Amino acid sequence: MEKLRIIIIGCGRVAVKHMKAISKNSDRAELVALVDVSEEAAKRLSPDTPYYKDYKQAITEVKPDIVAVTVPSGLHYEIARFAMENGCHLLLEKPMTMSSDQSRQIYELSLKTGRKIAMGHIYRYFPIVGLVREDIREGRFGKVTHGSIYVRWGHGDDYYGSASWRGTWKSDGGALMNQTIHAIDLLVWLMGSKPVSCVGMISQRRANIEAEDLGMAVIRMDDGSLASVEGTTCTSDKDKAAEFSVFCENGVISMGIRQGKPKLNIVGRSGKKLNLHYVLRQIKKGGLKSLLGALNPHTAIYTDLIDSIDNDHQPVADAYSGYTSVDNLMGIYKSSKLGEEVRLPLDEDFSSIDMEGYFK
Ligand SMILES: NC(=O)c1ccc[n+]([C@@H]2O[C@H](COP(=O)([O-])OP(=O)(O)OC[C@H]3O[C@@H](n4cnc5c(N)ncnc54)[C@H](O)[C@@H]3O)[C@@H](O)[C@H]2O)c1
Repeated sequence: MEKLRIIIIGCGRVAVKHMKAISKNSDRAELVALVDVSEEAAKRLSPDTPYYKDYKQAITEVKPDIVAVTVPSGLHYEIARFAMENGCHLLLEKPMTMSSDQSRQIYELSLKTGRKIAMGHIYRYFPIVGLVREDIREGRFGKVTHGSIYVRWGHGDDYYGSASWRGTWKSDGGALMNQTIHAIDLLVWLMGSKPVSCVGMISQRRANIEAEDLGMAVIRMDDGSLASVEGTTCTSDKDKAAEFSVFCENGVISMGIRQGKPKLNIVGRSGKKLNLHYVLRQIKKGGLKSLLGALNPHTAIYTDLIDSIDNDHQPVADAYSGYTSVDNLMGIYKSSKLGEEVRLPLDEDFSSIDMEGYFK
Protein backbone atom coordinates (compact mmCIF):
# COMPACT_ATOMS: atom_id res chain seq x y z
CA MET A 1 0.00 0.00 0.00
CA GLU A 2 1.35 3.45 -0.88
CA LYS A 3 2.12 5.71 2.05
CA LEU A 4 -0.31 8.53 2.81
CA ARG A 5 1.27 11.89 1.98
CA ILE A 6 0.97 14.59 4.65
CA ILE A 7 1.61 18.33 4.69
CA ILE A 8 1.70 20.43 7.86
CA ILE A 9 0.31 23.97 7.63
CA GLY A 10 1.65 26.06 10.53
CA CYS A 11 5.15 25.28 11.86
CA GLY A 12 4.97 26.54 15.47
CA ARG A 13 4.83 24.91 18.90
CA VAL A 14 2.32 22.12 18.31
CA ALA A 15 3.76 21.24 14.88
CA VAL A 16 6.78 19.77 16.70
CA LYS A 17 4.46 17.13 18.19
CA HIS A 18 2.96 16.47 14.75
CA MET A 19 6.42 15.92 13.24
CA LYS A 20 7.26 13.33 15.92
CA ALA A 21 3.88 11.66 15.53
CA ILE A 22 4.23 11.40 11.73
CA SER A 23 7.68 9.85 12.06
CA LYS A 24 6.27 7.30 14.55
CA ASN A 25 3.71 6.37 11.86
CA SER A 26 6.33 6.15 9.08
CA ASP A 27 5.20 2.65 8.02
CA ARG A 28 1.97 4.19 6.60
CA ALA A 29 2.62 7.93 6.25
CA GLU A 30 5.23 10.44 5.14
CA LEU A 31 5.67 14.18 5.48
CA VAL A 32 5.96 15.72 2.00
CA ALA A 33 5.82 19.50 2.60
CA LEU A 34 5.74 22.19 5.27
CA VAL A 35 3.77 25.42 4.96
CA ASP A 36 4.20 28.60 7.00
CA VAL A 37 4.10 32.31 6.29
CA SER A 38 7.48 32.33 8.01
CA GLU A 39 10.12 30.36 6.09
CA GLU A 40 12.32 30.50 9.19
CA ALA A 41 9.67 28.65 11.23
CA ALA A 42 9.40 25.90 8.60
CA LYS A 43 13.17 25.52 8.23
CA ARG A 44 13.55 25.37 12.03
CA LEU A 45 11.16 22.42 12.03
CA SER A 46 12.88 20.61 9.15
CA PRO A 47 15.44 22.26 6.85
CA ASP A 48 15.16 19.51 4.20
CA THR A 49 11.40 19.23 3.74
CA PRO A 50 9.99 21.14 0.71
CA TYR A 51 8.65 24.51 1.86
CA TYR A 52 5.61 26.56 0.73
CA LYS A 53 4.57 29.99 1.93
CA ASP A 54 1.01 29.79 0.55
CA TYR A 55 -1.25 26.97 1.75
CA LYS A 56 -3.49 27.06 -1.33
CA GLN A 57 -0.50 26.60 -3.64
CA ALA A 58 0.82 23.76 -1.45
CA ILE A 59 -2.51 21.90 -1.46
CA THR A 60 -3.14 22.28 -5.21
CA GLU A 61 0.45 21.44 -6.26
CA VAL A 62 1.35 18.70 -3.77
CA LYS A 63 -2.16 17.14 -3.62
CA PRO A 64 -1.57 15.57 -0.19
CA ASP A 65 -3.81 12.84 1.27
CA ILE A 66 -3.77 14.49 4.71
CA VAL A 67 -3.43 18.12 5.75
CA ALA A 68 -2.42 18.86 9.34
CA VAL A 69 -3.89 22.25 10.30
CA THR A 70 -1.67 23.72 13.04
CA VAL A 71 -2.08 27.45 12.44
CA PRO A 72 -3.63 29.94 14.92
CA SER A 73 -7.23 28.87 15.64
CA GLY A 74 -8.80 31.83 13.81
CA LEU A 75 -7.45 30.39 10.52
CA HIS A 76 -8.74 26.82 10.98
CA TYR A 77 -12.06 27.38 9.19
CA GLU A 78 -10.75 28.73 5.86
CA ILE A 79 -7.89 26.21 5.63
CA ALA A 80 -10.01 23.19 6.69
CA ARG A 81 -12.64 24.14 4.13
CA PHE A 82 -10.17 24.64 1.27
CA ALA A 83 -8.33 21.37 2.07
CA MET A 84 -11.52 19.27 2.16
CA GLU A 85 -12.85 20.89 -1.01
CA ASN A 86 -9.58 19.80 -2.63
CA GLY A 87 -9.96 16.17 -1.54
CA CYS A 88 -7.80 16.09 1.61
CA HIS A 89 -8.43 14.40 4.95
CA LEU A 90 -7.58 16.50 7.98
CA LEU A 91 -5.80 16.36 11.27
CA LEU A 92 -7.36 19.54 12.57
CA GLU A 93 -6.12 21.14 15.75
CA LYS A 94 -8.59 22.25 18.41
CA PRO A 95 -10.74 24.27 18.52
CA MET A 96 -12.28 23.25 15.18
CA THR A 97 -13.16 26.90 14.39
CA MET A 98 -14.05 30.05 16.33
CA SER A 99 -17.84 29.85 15.84
CA SER A 100 -20.66 27.35 16.30
CA ASP A 101 -21.92 27.81 12.75
CA GLN A 102 -18.50 27.52 11.09
CA SER A 103 -17.87 24.31 13.06
CA ARG A 104 -21.22 22.87 11.99
CA GLN A 105 -20.33 23.72 8.36
CA ILE A 106 -16.96 21.92 8.62
CA TYR A 107 -18.64 18.88 10.20
CA GLU A 108 -21.29 18.82 7.44
CA LEU A 109 -18.66 19.25 4.72
CA SER A 110 -16.80 16.24 6.09
CA LEU A 111 -20.01 14.17 5.84
CA LYS A 112 -20.73 15.47 2.32
CA THR A 113 -17.22 14.93 0.92
CA GLY A 114 -16.47 11.73 2.87
CA ARG A 115 -13.21 13.29 4.04
CA LYS A 116 -12.18 12.22 7.55
CA ILE A 117 -11.34 14.73 10.25
CA ALA A 118 -9.38 13.69 13.33
CA MET A 119 -9.46 16.50 15.88
CA GLY A 120 -6.50 17.35 18.13
CA HIS A 121 -8.62 16.35 21.15
CA ILE A 122 -5.70 14.63 22.82
CA TYR A 123 -7.50 13.49 25.99
CA ARG A 124 -9.67 11.01 24.06
CA TYR A 125 -6.44 9.20 23.15
CA PHE A 126 -5.03 8.81 26.65
CA PRO A 127 -4.62 5.18 27.80
CA ILE A 128 -7.53 3.61 29.74
CA VAL A 129 -9.93 6.40 28.70
CA GLY A 130 -11.41 4.25 25.88
CA LEU A 131 -11.94 1.29 28.23
CA VAL A 132 -13.64 3.46 30.83
CA ARG A 133 -15.95 4.89 28.18
CA GLU A 134 -16.91 1.41 26.99
CA ASP A 135 -17.74 0.38 30.57
CA ILE A 136 -19.77 3.51 31.32
CA ARG A 137 -21.72 3.03 28.06
CA GLU A 138 -22.39 -0.61 28.82
CA GLY A 139 -23.75 0.35 32.24
CA ARG A 140 -21.03 -1.36 34.32
CA PHE A 141 -20.90 1.65 36.66
CA GLY A 142 -24.69 2.15 36.65
CA LYS A 143 -26.35 5.51 36.17
CA VAL A 144 -24.09 8.56 35.70
CA THR A 145 -25.04 11.18 38.29
CA HIS A 146 -22.56 13.94 37.43
CA GLY A 147 -19.09 14.74 36.18
CA SER A 148 -16.43 17.37 36.69
CA ILE A 149 -13.23 18.60 35.13
CA TYR A 150 -10.61 21.09 36.04
CA VAL A 151 -7.82 22.31 33.79
CA ARG A 152 -5.33 24.44 35.75
CA TRP A 153 -2.83 25.06 32.99
CA GLY A 154 -0.78 28.02 34.18
CA HIS A 155 0.68 30.30 31.55
CA GLY A 156 2.60 33.49 32.22
CA ASP A 157 3.27 36.61 30.16
CA ASP A 158 6.01 34.82 28.22
CA TYR A 159 3.44 32.39 26.76
CA TYR A 160 0.84 35.04 25.93
CA GLY A 161 3.56 37.34 24.58
CA SER A 162 5.06 34.62 22.34
CA ALA A 163 2.57 35.27 19.49
CA SER A 164 0.21 38.19 18.87
CA TRP A 165 -2.85 35.93 18.28
CA ARG A 166 -2.76 34.32 21.74
CA GLY A 167 -5.55 35.36 24.09
CA THR A 168 -7.39 37.40 21.41
CA TRP A 169 -11.13 36.92 20.85
CA LYS A 170 -10.68 36.74 17.08
CA SER A 171 -7.96 34.11 16.85
CA ASP A 172 -7.72 32.19 20.13
CA GLY A 173 -10.20 32.90 22.93
CA GLY A 174 -9.04 32.37 26.51
CA ALA A 175 -8.43 29.55 28.98
CA LEU A 176 -11.74 27.81 28.22
CA MET A 177 -11.45 27.98 24.43
CA ASN A 178 -7.77 27.09 24.15
CA GLN A 179 -6.75 25.02 27.17
CA THR A 180 -10.08 23.52 28.34
CA ILE A 181 -12.03 22.66 25.18
CA HIS A 182 -10.64 19.15 24.79
CA ALA A 183 -11.36 18.40 28.46
CA ILE A 184 -14.98 19.54 28.02
CA ASP A 185 -15.16 17.32 24.94
CA LEU A 186 -13.80 14.38 26.96
CA LEU A 187 -16.19 14.81 29.88
CA VAL A 188 -19.29 15.06 27.69
CA TRP A 189 -18.13 12.06 25.62
CA LEU A 190 -17.51 9.92 28.71
CA MET A 191 -20.78 10.83 30.39
CA GLY A 192 -22.50 9.63 27.22
CA SER A 193 -25.51 11.98 27.33
CA LYS A 194 -26.21 15.17 25.37
CA PRO A 195 -25.87 18.75 26.65
CA VAL A 196 -29.20 20.60 26.74
CA SER A 197 -28.19 23.84 28.45
CA CYS A 198 -25.37 25.58 30.28
CA VAL A 199 -24.54 28.40 32.65
CA GLY A 200 -21.12 29.96 32.35
CA MET A 201 -19.05 32.69 33.97
CA ILE A 202 -15.69 34.00 32.88
CA SER A 203 -13.20 36.33 34.49
CA GLN A 204 -9.81 37.93 34.07
CA ARG A 205 -7.54 37.63 37.09
CA ARG A 206 -3.90 37.74 36.03
CA ALA A 207 -3.15 37.55 32.32
CA ASN A 208 -2.86 40.68 30.22
CA ILE A 209 -5.05 39.42 27.35
CA GLU A 210 -8.40 40.24 25.70
CA ALA A 211 -10.15 36.99 26.65
CA GLU A 212 -10.71 35.09 29.94
CA ASP A 213 -7.94 33.50 31.98
CA LEU A 214 -10.54 31.88 34.25
CA GLY A 215 -13.85 30.29 33.38
CA MET A 216 -16.40 28.11 35.14
CA ALA A 217 -19.56 26.47 33.88
CA VAL A 218 -22.24 23.91 34.60
CA ILE A 219 -23.66 21.90 31.69
CA ARG A 220 -27.04 20.20 32.07
CA MET A 221 -27.35 16.89 30.19
CA ASP A 222 -30.46 15.34 28.64
CA ASP A 223 -30.56 12.52 31.24
CA GLY A 224 -30.62 15.04 34.11
CA SER A 225 -26.93 14.65 35.02
CA LEU A 226 -24.75 17.75 35.44
CA ALA A 227 -21.17 18.46 34.37
CA SER A 228 -19.03 21.08 36.07
CA VAL A 229 -16.13 22.79 34.34
CA GLU A 230 -13.23 24.86 35.66
CA GLY A 231 -10.53 26.09 33.28
CA THR A 232 -7.78 28.55 34.02
CA THR A 233 -4.32 29.70 33.04
CA CYS A 234 -3.95 31.73 36.29
CA THR A 235 -2.23 28.96 38.24
CA SER A 236 1.52 28.29 38.37
CA ASP A 237 3.14 27.30 35.08
CA LYS A 238 5.35 24.97 37.17
CA ASP A 239 2.34 23.03 38.41
CA LYS A 240 0.14 22.28 35.42
CA ALA A 241 -2.72 19.93 36.27
CA ALA A 242 -5.89 18.60 34.65
CA GLU A 243 -8.33 16.03 35.96
CA PHE A 244 -11.75 14.63 35.17
CA SER A 245 -14.12 12.63 37.35
CA VAL A 246 -17.28 10.81 36.39
CA PHE A 247 -19.54 9.91 39.32
CA CYS A 248 -21.85 6.93 38.88
CA GLU A 249 -24.20 5.03 41.16
CA ASN A 250 -21.74 2.10 41.25
CA GLY A 251 -18.38 3.84 41.28
CA VAL A 252 -16.22 6.84 40.51
CA ILE A 253 -13.69 7.25 37.72
CA SER A 254 -11.01 9.91 38.13
CA MET A 255 -8.05 10.40 35.85
CA GLY A 256 -5.66 13.24 35.31
CA ILE A 257 -2.19 14.56 34.95
CA ARG A 258 -0.13 16.78 37.26
CA GLN A 259 3.37 18.05 36.52
CA GLY A 260 3.56 15.50 33.70
CA LYS A 261 2.68 12.55 35.96
CA PRO A 262 -0.54 10.61 35.31
CA LYS A 263 -3.10 10.09 38.08
CA LEU A 264 -5.66 7.31 38.16
CA ASN A 265 -8.32 6.49 40.73
CA ILE A 266 -11.08 4.12 39.67
CA VAL A 267 -13.26 2.84 42.49
CA GLY A 268 -16.05 0.29 42.19
CA ARG A 269 -19.33 -0.25 44.03
CA SER A 270 -17.93 -1.54 47.35
CA GLY A 271 -15.14 1.03 47.44
CA LYS A 272 -12.74 -1.44 45.83
CA LYS A 273 -9.93 0.13 43.78
CA LEU A 274 -10.00 -1.02 40.16
CA ASN A 275 -6.81 0.71 38.92
CA LEU A 276 -4.82 -2.50 38.39
CA HIS A 277 -7.71 -4.15 36.57
CA TYR A 278 -7.77 -1.27 34.03
CA VAL A 279 -3.98 -1.13 33.65
CA LEU A 280 -3.90 -4.87 32.85
CA ARG A 281 -6.79 -4.54 30.40
CA GLN A 282 -5.03 -1.64 28.64
CA ILE A 283 -1.84 -3.72 28.30
CA LYS A 284 -3.86 -6.65 26.94
CA LYS A 285 -5.60 -4.38 24.42
CA GLY A 286 -2.74 -2.17 23.21
CA GLY A 287 0.47 -3.66 24.62
CA LEU A 288 2.75 -2.19 27.27
CA LYS A 289 3.72 0.74 25.03
CA SER A 290 0.09 1.90 24.85
CA LEU A 291 0.39 2.92 28.53
CA LEU A 292 2.92 5.54 27.43
CA GLY A 293 0.37 7.00 24.98
CA ALA A 294 -0.12 10.09 27.17
CA LEU A 295 3.46 11.20 26.39
CA ASN A 296 2.65 12.03 22.76
CA PRO A 297 -1.07 11.45 22.13
CA HIS A 298 -0.67 12.97 18.65
CA THR A 299 1.00 9.68 17.62
CA ALA A 300 -2.22 7.85 18.52
CA ILE A 301 -4.32 10.47 16.68
CA TYR A 302 -2.33 9.95 13.45
CA THR A 303 -2.51 6.14 13.82
CA ASP A 304 -6.28 6.42 14.26
CA LEU A 305 -6.73 8.85 11.34
CA ILE A 306 -4.69 6.60 9.01
CA ASP A 307 -6.69 3.55 10.09
CA SER A 308 -9.96 5.45 9.60
CA ILE A 309 -8.90 6.23 6.00
CA ASP A 310 -7.66 2.68 5.29
CA ASN A 311 -10.71 0.99 6.79
CA ASP A 312 -13.40 3.65 6.33
CA HIS A 313 -14.53 4.38 9.86
CA GLN A 314 -14.74 7.59 11.87
CA PRO A 315 -11.72 8.56 14.01
CA VAL A 316 -12.15 8.48 17.82
CA ALA A 317 -12.02 12.31 17.95
CA ASP A 318 -14.14 12.84 14.84
CA ALA A 319 -15.60 15.90 13.09
CA TYR A 320 -18.72 15.68 15.27
CA SER A 321 -16.57 16.07 18.40
CA GLY A 322 -15.01 19.16 16.82
CA TYR A 323 -18.41 20.72 16.10
CA THR A 324 -20.14 19.85 19.39
CA SER A 325 -17.22 20.93 21.59
CA VAL A 326 -17.18 24.38 19.92
CA ASP A 327 -20.98 24.58 20.21
CA ASN A 328 -20.78 23.82 23.96
CA LEU A 329 -17.98 26.34 24.39
CA MET A 330 -19.87 29.06 22.52
CA GLY A 331 -22.87 28.30 24.76
CA ILE A 332 -20.70 28.95 27.83
CA TYR A 333 -19.42 32.24 26.35
CA LYS A 334 -22.94 33.28 25.36
CA SER A 335 -24.26 32.49 28.84
CA SER A 336 -21.44 34.55 30.40
CA LYS A 337 -22.31 37.45 28.12
CA LEU A 338 -26.09 37.32 28.68
CA GLY A 339 -25.92 36.34 32.37
CA GLU A 340 -28.46 33.57 31.86
CA GLU A 341 -28.82 29.85 31.16
CA VAL A 342 -28.45 29.08 27.45
CA ARG A 343 -30.02 26.17 25.55
CA LEU A 344 -27.76 23.73 23.71
CA PRO A 345 -27.13 23.07 20.90
CA LEU A 346 -27.21 26.75 20.01
CA ASP A 347 -30.06 27.64 17.67
CA GLU A 348 -28.16 30.53 16.11
CA ASP A 349 -24.52 31.24 15.40
CA PHE A 350 -22.32 32.48 18.22
CA SER A 351 -18.67 33.32 17.68
CA SER A 352 -15.82 34.20 20.02
CA ILE A 353 -15.76 37.56 18.20
CA ASP A 354 -19.20 38.21 19.76
CA MET A 355 -17.28 38.44 23.06
CA GLU A 356 -15.13 41.36 21.91
CA GLY A 357 -15.20 44.19 24.47
CA TYR A 358 -16.51 41.92 27.26
CA PHE A 359 -13.75 42.89 29.71
CA LYS A 360 -13.59 46.60 28.85
N1 LIG B 1 -3.95 19.59 20.73
C1 LIG B 1 -3.04 20.19 21.45
O1 LIG B 1 -2.55 19.63 22.42
C2 LIG B 1 -2.57 21.56 21.07
C3 LIG B 1 -1.47 22.12 21.73
C4 LIG B 1 -1.04 23.38 21.36
C5 LIG B 1 -1.71 24.09 20.36
N2 LIG B 1 -2.80 23.53 19.76
C6 LIG B 1 -3.50 24.28 18.69
O2 LIG B 1 -2.64 24.33 17.56
C7 LIG B 1 -2.77 25.58 16.88
C8 LIG B 1 -1.41 26.26 16.77
O3 LIG B 1 -0.91 26.53 18.07
P1 LIG B 1 0.66 26.79 18.30
O4 LIG B 1 0.83 26.96 19.75
O5 LIG B 1 1.47 25.76 17.60
O6 LIG B 1 0.83 28.20 17.56
P2 LIG B 1 2.18 28.92 17.09
O7 LIG B 1 1.92 30.38 17.07
O8 LIG B 1 3.34 28.41 17.86
O9 LIG B 1 2.33 28.38 15.57
C9 LIG B 1 1.47 28.77 14.54
C10 LIG B 1 2.26 28.85 13.24
O10 LIG B 1 1.36 29.14 12.17
C11 LIG B 1 2.00 30.03 11.28
N3 LIG B 1 1.00 30.75 10.48
C12 LIG B 1 0.25 31.83 10.81
N4 LIG B 1 -0.55 32.18 9.78
C13 LIG B 1 -0.33 31.29 8.79
C14 LIG B 1 -0.85 31.13 7.47
N5 LIG B 1 -1.80 31.95 6.98
N6 LIG B 1 -0.37 30.12 6.71
C15 LIG B 1 0.59 29.29 7.18
N7 LIG B 1 1.13 29.40 8.42
C16 LIG B 1 0.67 30.38 9.22
C17 LIG B 1 2.81 30.95 12.18
O11 LIG B 1 3.85 31.62 11.47
C18 LIG B 1 3.33 29.94 13.23
O12 LIG B 1 4.59 29.41 12.86
C19 LIG B 1 -3.81 26.37 17.67
O13 LIG B 1 -5.06 26.20 17.08
C20 LIG B 1 -3.80 25.73 19.05
O14 LIG B 1 -5.06 25.83 19.72
C21 LIG B 1 -3.21 22.30 20.08
